Amino acid sequence: MAEFKKAALLSEIPPDSMKSVEIGLDRILIGRIGDDVYAVADECSHDYAPISEGRLKGKEIVCPRHGARFDITSGQATAPPAIAPIEKYEVKIEGNDIYVLL
Ligand code: FES
Repeated sequence: MAEFKKAALLSEIPPDSMKSVEIGLDRILIGRIGDDVYAVADECSHDYAPISEGRLKGKEIVCPRHGARFDITSGQATAPPAIAPIEKYEVKIEGNDIYVLL
């Protein structure tokens, strides 16, 4: 059953940056666009690269391996070579704590 798991501290992720966290067997990218926080799978749908090692450009994550892009707000692929979306997770903020629904 899905439940919210503590993933990171808000103070660890400045606005317009991202961080990779491991929760159990899941590797999750937590990203902040201004004051909004998003969570997606930290794995490119093209060839499994850790996209947290790429760049955040506006609301797009640029994969470091072949340059695919993903919308961090939806997980949708926005530029090739990736076509399939990445998993997007629901996020909850309580004080300085970021929780992700897994
Ligand atoms: S592994 Fe991400 S674009 Fe190829």
